[in-house]
Amino acid sequence: MALLVVGLVLAFFSLSASAATVETSFHVKNLTVNRLCQNQVIMAVNGSLPGPTLRVKEGDTVVVHVFNKSPYNLTIHWHGVFQRLTQWADGPEFVTQCPIRPGGNYTYMFNLTGQVGTLWWHAHSQWLRATVHGALIIRPREGQKYPFVKPYREDTIMLGEWWNADPNDVESAALATGAVPNISDAYTINGWPGDMSNSTCRSNITYRLDVVPGRTYLLRIINAALNTQFFFKIANHNFTVVAVDAAYTNPFPTDVVVVGPGQTTDVLLTANQSPGLYYMAANPYANAVGVSFNGNTTTGVLAYSNATQTTPAILPVLPDFNDTATAFTFSSNLTALVSSPFWSPVPQTVDENMFITIGMGLEACGSNQTCGGIFGQRMAASMNNNSFVLPTRMSLLEAYFRNVSGVYTTDFPDRPPVVFDYTNVNNSFNQSLNLLMTSKVTNLKKIKFNSTVQIVLQNTALLGIENHPMHLHGFNFYVLAQGFGNYDPANDTRKFNMVNPQERNTLGVPVGGWAVIRFRANNPGVWFIHCHLEVHLPWGLGTAFLVENGGTPESTLPPPPADFPQC
Ligand code: C2O
Repeated sequence: MALLVVGLVLAFFSLSASAATVETSFHVKNLTVNRLCQNQVIMAVNGSLPGPTLRVKEGDTVVVHVFNKSPYNLTIHWHGVFQRLTQWADGPEFVTQCPIRPGGNYTYMFNLTGQVGTLWWHAHSQWLRATVHGALIIRPREGQKYPFVKPYREDTIMLGEWWNADPNDVESAALATGAVPNISDAYTINGWPGDMSNSTCRSNITYRLDVVPGRTYLLRIINAALNTQFFFKIANHNFTVVAVDAAYTNPFPTDVVVVGPGQTTDVLLTANQSPGLYYMAANPYANAVGVSFNGNTTTGVLAYSNATQTTPAILPVLPDFNDTATAFTFSSNLTALVSSPFWSPVPQTVDENMFITIGMGLEACGSNQTCGGIFGQRMAASMNNNSFVLPTRMSLLEAYFRNVSGVYTTDFPDRPPVVFDYTNVNNSFNQSLNLLMTSKVTNLKKIKFNSTVQIVLQNTALLGIENHPMHLHGFNFYVLAQGFGNYDPANDTRKFNMVNPQERNTLGVPVGGWAVIRFRANNPGVWFIHCHLEVHLPWGLGTAFLVENGGTPESTLPPPPADFPQC
């Protein structure tokens, strides 16, 4: 049976004429690396940090055999891949699959039709993604081109976050008491902190991008950090944004890129300055008031081939940590390139209209325990005051497919339990609102196949305001509007961009503000929606959409593959 299904899936994929199959293996195991003057054991794929880049063309099929030689449970998520008819390959632990146990293996197979640009892959279990991540680059298929000037070369800039510790230990220590986890020790560009990191010795390796004067480069910027949004600049140079999250944009000129965890930004860079070495640098956009963060800057070098200097002279002037105006200008001015072959117009009608508050909260400490969160409770987070708990017995998708009851419910609410002044910081610690304590639940939102879903994502000020990068699995969504304060349907509906809104899989909902997203639920399965700040995920800032089958073979969830991991 399973073989038959694989055969059918392959037959389906092979309809596209020029498509190829790209097959590779990921061996996930211990690697000792030296960063910030000390040796650290990390989990890595095929002995490298970042892990291997997958390079494919639109329409190709990817087959990755993952061997878990680490001591931890593991899954791999292909961030931004729709996974049509390959729902079992999406990867979030206990959402679509049980983890690959130490010593186990699982083969992920999926097709990349209708998606071009920069995506990435990462572990989706505990905090493994800190070091288990890499780029997934999808170029146009044979005979098709970029809708912009052909770059002389393409390079990937992967921004990361580094702990002088095992990130899983950092997470476990925090979860043990309900406290906020330790902040990171450095940020990285393609795995290297650079020469500004706050350390007594300097790492002798800094990422270096060699350029030929006059040439134009396509930089694929990926934020693989766990908990940090970044400002990224290159001294004296400007960028033109041409795509985000593997969706083309209208060319957008800027001297700074703002990128949240999970997001990607493709920019054109022309080496049009005088010969020399220029720093590229990223520092945090840290907008949560009163929350401590690592204030380091990570650097790399842009090196002209005709430069005579040996050390970069000029550092870019980076925005302040709390420069929300710059972040908002960047993220609210991007628009979609509607002439792209992959564009489809915004659905004009809405079948499911949701208003979801997102923010922090607490979970009761439990008697006879001492907890490290605010008010002596455990830190939590929620959507509509529901703090999401993952199952442990079986994945949500498997429970749905096999009709197993008791794993989840489908009563995720379309509205928050109480209407209040959501973004008023005077409410942050207002215990009389009775909203700080969340309910720990595993409830999903059930959606009919092909419905159009609109969600107002409303940040709250509970325990403090913060920009939350919300990520939806299985779909791209249109960003119709964004703003500050409380969403006001009477005025804000008028701001909707129904013509060329940016399409994304991850959106930073403005700090103390809101965003309206819309998507067509044309992909049956169970799809996680969650904050991509890894710290907020085990605290419960997520839920999942259960999209029902559509009644045709192409809109029906297939059975899991034969090697599907068991719990
Ligand atoms: Cu990139 Cu559910 O994540």
